[in-house]
Amino acid sequence: MNKQTLLLAALMLAASLGLHAQTRHFVIEAGKQGAEIQPTMYGHFFEDINFGADGGLYAELVKNRSFEFPQRLMGWRTFGHVTLHDDGPFERNPHYVRLFPASHHEKRTGLENEGFFGIGLRAGESYRFSVWARGEKQKLRVELIDPASASESQVLASADLDVDSPEWHQYEVVLTPGAPHPKAHLRIFYASAGGHIDLEHVSLFPVDTWKGRRNGLRKDLVQALADTRPGVFRFPGGCIVEGTDLGTRYNWKNSVGPVENRPLNENRWQYTFRHRFFPDYFQTYGMGFYELFLLAEDMGAEPLPVVNCGLACQYQNNDPKAHVPVDSLDTYIQDALDLVEFANGDSLTTEWGRLRARMGHPEPFGLKYLAVGNEQWGPEYVDRLEQFVKALRKHYPDLHIIGSSGPNSEGKDFDYLWPEMRRLKVDLVDEHFYRPESWFLQSGSRYDDYDRRGPKVFAGEYACHGRGKKWNHFHASLLEAAFLTGVERNADIVHMATYAPLLAHVEGWQWRPDLIWFDNLRSVRTCSWYVQALYGHNRGTHVVPLTMEGRPVSGQEGQEGLFASAVWDEPTQSYIVKVVNTSDQAQPLLLDFKGMKKARLAEGTCTTLHSDNPDAENTLDAPATITPQESRVTVTDGRSVSTEIGPMTFAVYRFVKAGK
Ligand code: AHR
Repeated sequence: MNKQTLLLAALMLAASLGLHAQTRHFVIEAGKQGAEIQPTMYGHFFEDINFGADGGLYAELVKNRSFEFPQRLMGWRTFGHVTLHDDGPFERNPHYVRLFPASHHEKRTGLENEGFFGIGLRAGESYRFSVWARGEKQKLRVELIDPASASESQVLASADLDVDSPEWHQYEVVLTPGAPHPKAHLRIFYASAGGHIDLEHVSLFPVDTWKGRRNGLRKDLVQALADTRPGVFRFPGGCIVEGTDLGTRYNWKNSVGPVENRPLNENRWQYTFRHRFFPDYFQTYGMGFYELFLLAEDMGAEPLPVVNCGLACQYQNNDPKAHVPVDSLDTYIQDALDLVEFANGDSLTTEWGRLRARMGHPEPFGLKYLAVGNEQWGPEYVDRLEQFVKALRKHYPDLHIIGSSGPNSEGKDFDYLWPEMRRLKVDLVDEHFYRPESWFLQSGSRYDDYDRRGPKVFAGEYACHGRGKKWNHFHASLLEAAFLTGVERNADIVHMATYAPLLAHVEGWQWRPDLIWFDNLRSVRTCSWYVQALYGHNRGTHVVPLTMEGRPVSGQEGQEGLFASAVWDEPTQSYIVKVVNTSDQAQPLLLDFKGMKKARLAEGTCTTLHSDNPDAENTLDAPATITPQESRVTVTDGRSVSTEIGPMTFAVYRFVKAGK
């Protein structure tokens, strides 16, 4: 035997004896039930950023359907004889177009809408075209077309529509394209011999929206949201709550009632980043507060609206005059009180409850949480919040009020705000952290020493932003999983956590990374999405203490990049252990369930999320590059498990308890 063969044999022997790495002995105090884990623990935060609402979740396919964009015909191309008017039937959206017969030279009259990065069509699916129109003995021809067609026919579907009334009425027709197209256009021809026809609120929706609702939401995207089993749903922002100035803040009252009369608002994400400028990005409020409450209800999540506190975006407004003076907040406070009434008020005896009922939901939405202000800071915030707290406590003593700890996870603003939040006795404090890998690696113990008196924590916006890696790569999601073990271990103080941002159109994003990406027809669940889903599906009901050598497993020195937490799940009578190995070495584990008396563990599964490539990601073209894999785990003596966690792996172990 030569030297090399000897060395190889020795290595093989060492490996077979399991000497390659020290076994990590996790003690799980199965007999001890710790803090309750709130059903709200893992959820979603929705903001209309990255074309998340119009052009995204909101299934409307026509851009600038009411001709209210500042450039009234943006998104439209007109041909022939078309004029614009502003005395239409909807007071807050007064513009409409009038179509006349084409002149001899023009040949045809009509208009064409480009949709949001085109209009995504599926073959054989039905699309409902609707329009408010006025005209006597008039005819329209409606077409879905391939604008770049090289074939003989551009037309993917077409239908005729008769309009015959001097009054405004809504008309509709369903079109079913025979071929798919990711970037079709909508074309409308004037098809009468004489006279004219007026058109307003020109709309096209897939018939097959989420739950088949009119004015509905895109099904695949809602499904992706619901599939994580979110417990809380925060909306509508984010910075858009604040507005670049107060005039452009998100005003929830403008987002309810008939869609045709919800006024357009700008979207600050249109111009926030010069390198990602989208001049055609506006908020129609088609998906407004009613639709958002409904969505929360559909997902089984607690709705958590955020209201403006009288401050415009503080990043963009240094001048105190940009904000509402502290003694003039009445309208803003009233808006917050009315919002609670809209959500919960009696459907017959309250003004806003009546509106909710008229919109189709007489039963209350059961609102329990309200955030005042988004990412605010300084005494200017505290002084305003105080007024809201007084009024909200007076009218709705049971409402859980959420205050802000500013834009940073630590530092001057954060240190100032937390004691102030305690003083104001808010129920939860919203923390935001978009942080690099190093921060996530070091923050496994973040909540271990938090002051337990006073407000609870809502990690309202967070994501791991890899340095120089602004895509949803695996390593970032692994560190998010690691961080969440600390959130879970501290469920007595952390009651909610929501990743941000949620949605992004591949052609229309402003901010990366994001949880779910989509184009006009497809969507992809990122590896961060899978982390959220694994936590959502394995939330458990109570924390169970888990230690290694007497210490929590939170990536501390000597813990070789391991993070772990354990929970008990009452409905399924199961223990769930989450382990994240952030190192590049496989690590043998001994899961030792102590204090179970006669009970034993009957069976086990292990679900892992792993990639050999830390930079790998799921994409629209390769959506299943990184997905969870499940295997069975053997329980040796009814209470301990010898296993191994691979390098760079998030593992969720589940064991059903047998016997009492
Ligand atoms: O999620 C994107 C933005 O980040 C939010 O609008 C804001 O709250 C934070 O600064």
